[in-house]
Amino acid sequence: MTGMVAFLVLSHAPLPAQAEGDAVAGRSLAIKHCSRCHAVPRHNPRGGIGSTPSFKVLTYIADYVERMQTFYDRRPHRAFVRLEGLEQSAPDAAYAQPIRLRVEDVDHLVAYIKSLESK
Ligand code: HEC
Repeated sequence: MTGMVAFLVLSHAPLPAQAEGDAVAGRSLAIKHCSRCHAVPRHNPRGGIGSTPSFKVLTYIADYVERMQTFYDRRPHRAFVRLEGLEQSAPDAAYAQPIRLRVEDVDHLVAYIKSLESK
């Protein structure tokens, strides 16, 4: 029975990250895990994959913070991002290198993308 309760709680996505993150840690995570597709300012400004929005460009979208809080549940990330404690139904795709993150890593990524917003 306890297992059932845990399943119901954990399998429910999205799970918005709420705590205050660390933008410096977030930038390191972005470079390590995201820069092969997303351009990261002052790391690979012209890099990434053409069809993928740069993190700077994402800050022009009004709800970009919410998008970052739930990115792992948004296309195409659901196929390859594994968030600790969150049950995901999609099997590991053989062709995509899985990205494994902790919930607090999402807070750091949110703090990082907020730091890119033009004042
Ligand atoms: C394999 C390539 C790839 C990797 C790796 C990747 N992304 Fe993405 N990301 C994409 C693509 C492609 C889109 C555009 C999706 C669309 O517009 O439908 C996107 C869009 C986004 C968006 C906007 C989502 C939306 O619905 O508007 C966010 C936020 C995001 N990515 C965050 C991240 C973060 C954080 C990481 C690293 C932890 C990451 N991505 C790693 C390919 C990638």
